Amino acid sequence: MTPLYPAAWDEIDAPQMGVEPPGPRSREVLARIERNAYPGLSGGLTPLALASKRAWTVTDVDGNVYLDCASASASVPLGAGRAEVQEPAIAALKRFGNEDSHALVSELTAELGERLLALSPSSLTRYDIALNGTEAVEIAIKMMRRATGRPIILAFHGSYHGESTTTAALGAETSEIARGLRGLVPGFVHVPYPHAYRTPFREPRPGGTGDATVDYIRDHVLFHALDPADVAGVVIEPVLGSGGCVAPPDSFWPALTALCREHDWLLCADEVKTGMGRAGHLFAVERWGVEPDLMCLGKALGGGVMPIGALLGSERALGTFDDVPTGSTWAWLPGGCAAALATLDLYESEPVLENVAALGTVGAARLAELRERFERIGDVRAIGCFQAIEFVRDRQSAELDSRLQNAVAAEMLRRGVLADSSTTSINIQPSLVMPAATLERVYALVAESIQAALDAESA
Ligand SMILES: Cc1ncc(COP(=O)(O)O)c(C=O)c1O
Repeated sequence: MTPLYPAAWDEIDAPQMGVEPPGPRSREVLARIERNAYPGLSGGLTPLALASKRAWTVTDVDGNVYLDCASASASVPLGAGRAEVQEPAIAALKRFGNEDSHALVSELTAELGERLLALSPSSLTRYDIALNGTEAVEIAIKMMRRATGRPIILAFHGSYHGESTTTAALGAETSEIARGLRGLVPGFVHVPYPHAYRTPFREPRPGGTGDATVDYIRDHVLFHALDPADVAGVVIEPVLGSGGCVAPPDSFWPALTALCREHDWLLCADEVKTGMGRAGHLFAVERWGVEPDLMCLGKALGGGVMPIGALLGSERALGTFDDVPTGSTWAWLPGGCAAALATLDLYESEPVLENVAALGTVGAARLAELRERFERIGDVRAIGCFQAIEFVRDRQSAELDSRLQNAVAAEMLRRGVLADSSTTSINIQPSLVMPAATLERVYALVAESIQAALDAESA
């Protein structure tokens, strides 16, 4: 085993905050963007402009150095600036530039497809190429309908699957994401995610499936509203990512897979965010021994260096027909394949998953302390390097308090911690190779930030 990251990263000393963000140079860059970019882009930007990134830090143009617990929407798994990934990608870019891998392929395509299938659950024997996670999910939807001849896909409240027209309609993280689309993109039926803190279904019913969510699907959705013979299958994030780092209870998976078998549905795991180790296993479905019919990959697959996505499938889902056009011009460009192969090499040679377990332990302990200390934290969750804090007005009502969440996120930024302040929680998603002591530092700053936000609220 080689060490977890380049030795020089041991000397990193962060955060270092010289000026309040956004500093003057950041403000200048942001103002230029605001002047003529789509307001929905400029309005959502973190208030700083990047100068550079290294390992688990981000430096802004005003010289502030932040601890990065956003990891570029969880697409940078092994720290920024990994020469081991960049160099093969650059070599492939120099050698090939782009080529449309739907027409002309190199050995890199064959090798990456073989490696991904060898690493994934044994139900998966075929692959198709994609540029990113969104495209992988788009292809999955087409394949599920083609393989079964059925139109409807069952998906979950709280799930995020992308922003394209179809993936936005498949997702249901918040109703806003599919605003204006719901009535135009039919074919998706949503049920609550098996979310211990927020589910409306408390206990499985006696004599039912053994799981409360699957009981609801069977007893209500399929009985009253949806003929199972119209359903192609289920698309699910095995651990909810953007929607708040939520793992279903163990009872869910056997009940769900039995339901899929009973009705001949395909089960598609969207592992775009969970895949490549973030939830503690290389693929999150491994935790429960689930053998999906389809698996979508993206984000971290390119090692944080190149965009690349993939769809893996069973023979039934992806191996028995050839008449579904898929993908786009830059899917599996040679540089992307080279980055993905180098990334897989690092997962093999470095103790990445062991470090994810250690960071998960730190997160669980510190989050439990925070919940103990602050009444306004409703729930905390740590699943490997998916860690979340949910703020509420009070514990009795459990009503989300997004104002407090935003205030805490702003205090964290002032103290030099970047995280993903999402729709229902602050998600702390560090690099999978961050040292445990650095994550301890993050949590000390998170505690200070919550206290400061509460003090400001009561001032
Ligand atoms: C679970 C999941 N699926 C799909 C996507 C879409 O991936 P991308 O935006 O990289 O295309 C995302 C992105 O956040 C995701 O989290």
